[in-house]
Amino acid sequence: MPDLLVIKSCFLSCLLALLQTSSSQQEEQSQLLLVSFDGFRWDYVNRVPTPNFRALMDEGVQVEQVENTYITKTYPNHYTLVTGLHAETHGIVANEMYDPIHNRSFSMEGPEVYDAWWWEEAVPLWVTNQKAGRKSGAAMWPGSDVAIGGTYPSHFLSYNASMPFEARVEKLIDWFLGPEAINFGVLYWEEPDESGHNLGPESPLMDVVIADIDEKLGFLRGKLKNAGLYDKVNLIVTSDHGMTQLSHDKIIELDTYVSRDLYTWIDKSPVVGILPKEGKLEEVYNSLKNANPNMVVYKKEEIPDHYHYRHNVRIMPLIIEVKEGWTVMQNRNGSFMLGNHGYNNSLPSMQPVFVARGPAFRRDYTKASMRSVDLYPLMCSILGLKPLPNNGSLSSVQDLLVETSTPKPVVPPVPREPSYAWAVGSILGAALVIGFLFIFVQQVTQRQLPPLHLTNSEITQPLL
Ligand SMILES: *[C@@H]1O[C@H](CO)[C@@H](O)[C@H](O)[C@H]1NC(C)=O
Ligand SMILES: *[C@@H]1O[C@H](CO)[C@@H](O)[C@H](O)[C@H]1NC(C)=O
Ligand SMILES: *[C@@H]1O[C@H](CO)[C@@H](O)[C@H](O)[C@H]1NC(C)=O
Ligand SMILES: *[C@@H]1O[C@H](CO)[C@@H](O)[C@H](O)[C@H]1NC(C)=O
Ligand SMILES: *[C@@H]1O[C@H](CO)[C@@H](O)[C@H](O)[C@H]1NC(C)=O
Ligand SMILES: [Zn+2]
Repeated sequence: MPDLLVIKSCFLSCLLALLQTSSSQQEEQSQLLLVSFDGFRWDYVNRVPTPNFRALMDEGVQVEQVENTYITKTYPNHYTLVTGLHAETHGIVANEMYDPIHNRSFSMEGPEVYDAWWWEEAVPLWVTNQKAGRKSGAAMWPGSDVAIGGTYPSHFLSYNASMPFEARVEKLIDWFLGPEAINFGVLYWEEPDESGHNLGPESPLMDVVIADIDEKLGFLRGKLKNAGLYDKVNLIVTSDHGMTQLSHDKIIELDTYVSRDLYTWIDKSPVVGILPKEGKLEEVYNSLKNANPNMVVYKKEEIPDHYHYRHNVRIMPLIIEVKEGWTVMQNRNGSFMLGNHGYNNSLPSMQPVFVARGPAFRRDYTKASMRSVDLYPLMCSILGLKPLPNNGSLSSVQDLLVETSTPKPVVPPVPREPSYAWAVGSILGAALVIGFLFIFVQQVTQRQLPPLHLTNSEITQPLL
């Protein structure tokens, strides 16, 4: 009976196709990879040919300058990118911190980094993604090898500065492909920050470093393509801050103005926390207030509003900020670098790069600026997650995303409602299964078994 065989195989293939469609519609989650090249200033892409950054701009979006959050240092800003909060709210207010109430100190180079207590004033996006029943993967993003709120990323690498970029990328690709496949990944690389500090951003040697970052981005693009992920994964490439050139002629020695015995020095130039010894606040403040025209000292309550940097016990009673290009240390024995960041977040030199591409993003679209706090609601929208309270605004960056005829609903994470398409797919699939079974049973029973006393109408009617 060749015609029946044809019908059967057609039923079977239609059935399989439908089942695949409905199950992929059920499980399809937007995929997102957030990459930070530490200290990649916004204008580095214009300095040397950067074909891989250019490709992402052509295929996606570019935001020319990102206004990051104060202080423009690595730990505060990486936590802002994944929480949408200013440093005073997420609690990682500096690379080096002191909590005078609990008498605890934090250094990004010390073991306290792994103490979740420092991080738990906020919840990073990888945790929120997991709470919605999905998997996240993290390759050395600051804070991602810490059990924040008791939760590690589903997959992560313990921090190891010696692990090459390429090895980090390969891990992430493996995680996207499963088992336990992630839909959200974060990737961190230490350059061009390290070279920017050592060489100074104006050094011609930085051109080589920037070209190397572009090649690394090319490596990542190639790996995503080879894995069949390039057109599925939304890829965001950004950074925590920029970099500015320093000079040996622009050093402020605090010992010149006030005795070290009167205060504790927290963190490093260009923004330093000063914790005066008991009863010495006014004395220290008055000694520093008009001491040097290239240095400003703020009482905590006078820190400018636009810094959003006041409401946290980890911010010291006095903070010193020096002008762009200046370095403050206690005396010249302190370590000097040719490049630094940390200054006023409104300075163009402090602002990082931003390019992104993927199914969620518009093509060949350029926007002049955004705030780094807006990235969090943007990523939540792409992932279909309800954002936690944050300082960003989706509407400020909505224009980066493809316009959908109906705005993408922010689905409550759990439980997931089956979609309309899924329901239709399931009903059709079930209809086909029963139809197929009917023909199959008919065939089998005709050949091998005594006839069953069922009529066509008895079986098919419920389906019609
Ligand atoms: C604060 O901690 C340090 C050691 O971390 C200790 O030496 C010091 O006595 C403590 N201070 C107070 C007031 O408990
Ligand atoms: C860090 O990474 C390097 C290079 O991949 C590796 O040789 C080394 O064993 C790693 N260190 C640790 C502690 O895992
Ligand atoms: C700087 O360090 C040297 C050697 O360690 C020391 O002799 C000198 O007194 C120090 N200078 C100051 C200003 O502390
Ligand atoms: C930071 O820079 C902006 C832009 O130049 C300026 O308006 C603002 O006053 C600066 N803030 C401080 C505290 O210096
Ligand atoms: C930032 O957001 C947090 C959480 O909603 C809020 O508590 C805080 O006041 C906000 N900060 C600013 C400057 O609006
Ligand atoms: Zn950094």
